[in-house]
Amino acid sequence: MTDSDLIRAARLARRHARAAFSGFKVGAALETADGAVITGCNIENATYGLTVCAERVAMFKALSEGHRRFRRIAIVAAAAMPTPPCGACRQILWEFGGDLDVILANLRRETGRYRLSALLPLPFDGRQLE
Ligand code: THU
Repeated sequence: MTDSDLIRAARLARRHARAAFSGFKVGAALETADGAVITGCNIENATYGLTVCAERVAMFKALSEGHRRFRRIAIVAAAAMPTPPCGACRQILWEFGGDLDVILANLRRETGRYRLSALLPLPFDGRQLE
């Protein structure tokens, strides 16, 4: 699985986005440690606050299917500027995925690449609860 393959999977997932309110469609493709790819898209709701981002849909799908270890996530939106994960998604991705490689892309090209630890420095996580 190359980075381009993962980006392609995120672009395909984006087509399923339910973004009637913002019109901003996002796709995500999460790669597990054993090479499986679990995708997600954003799902909006007329009660706006119930909207779930593509990244969290992908992670929750993966967890609910029994996946536990992850390597990379590709995130795609049709925007020239990079579309990084929101704060809530950074927290969820960190908690369940650890220090993932985060690959950002639009419909044409890669727009950025980060380690999740660079996007979420000084995280709150289970270590604080010990
Ligand atoms: N969104 C995502 O799905 N992922 C991101 O990384 C940024 C934002 C969604 C949420 C909402 O449906 C729309 O994009 C506009 O914020």
